Amino acid sequence: MLSQLPLFPEAASTIARGVDLLYLFLTSVTAFFSTLIFACIFIFAVKYRRSPKNQGPEAVHGNLGLELLWTAVPFVITLIMFTWGASLYMSDARVPPNASDIYVVGRQWMWKIQHPEGRREINELHVPIGQPIKLTLASQDVIHSFYIPAFRLKQDVVPGRYTTMWFEANKAGEYHLFCAEYCGTQHSGMIGRVVVMEPKEYENWLGGVTEETPVEAGEKLFTQFNCVNCHATGARQRGPQLGGLFGKDVQLEGGGTVKFDESYIRESIINPNAKIVAGYQPVMPTFRGQVSEEQILELIAYIKSLSPQEGK
Ligand code: CUA
Repeated sequence: MLSQLPLFPEAASTIARGVDLLYLFLTSVTAFFSTLIFACIFIFAVKYRRSPKNQGPEAVHGNLGLELLWTAVPFVITLIMFTWGASLYMSDARVPPNASDIYVVGRQWMWKIQHPEGRREINELHVPIGQPIKLTLASQDVIHSFYIPAFRLKQDVVPGRYTTMWFEANKAGEYHLFCAEYCGTQHSGMIGRVVVMEPKEYENWLGGVTEETPVEAGEKLFTQFNCVNCHATGARQRGPQLGGLFGKDVQLEGGGTVKFDESYIRESIINPNAKIVAGYQPVMPTFRGQVSEEQILELIAYIKSLSPQEGK
């Protein structure tokens, strides 16, 4: 029914319907009370206007019943809005464990996207129906915002940190992709399309090209930047082994822990001395300016793929 209303863009993700319903609820409540209040203003203004018979109201000193009513009613309504909105937000914030990872780098003025199977694209995002997709978003320069109206999703893409969003597309088709944060002269041209495909079609689309996967590219970089020298076991080991660490808490030199996640890996590459793993010296050089955001994402994909036995 909602999709028939031209007010709403097409709905193509599992969360879209829920967002529309909440939006419709908020709008309806607002419209109802606005109408009620304005109707009361007009009716009372006419009905109680000053006349020879009516010389102004009597003063009213408190009305407990009325006060309880106008406190309780908005309280319940706003609590419904809060609970509804929060549960929707939480379902959107919790990434399902089987989601596949797609990396997005925003820069002036394009979106660069890399699939786990290796395929890369610019200003286009191909996804299959029925598969949860997790996007990890990084910016190479200024703040952008990744916006897919048909999925009812928008996420800021901020330089210096990672943001994530996830969705499950449920309707094949082509949809708009926008940058929704003013990011310079060509901001309005930072647009693209999202193509939602049947899983079979998506497989074909992926299979068409044989490019390095992020893990393979990351492995190369790991050797190229000589990371392997210090992070491999042996006499020359000077940094922690990275295999099997992803997602775990790591003890830090000087106390405290940090979660070994995308952000920590990124920080350790750009600013290695910020948080040193317990038992190691701050000897790692910074790679600031030497690696691009995409390369860091590839290194992360590689480190994530390492099992504890691989001893790197
Ligand atoms: Cu990127 Cu606006």
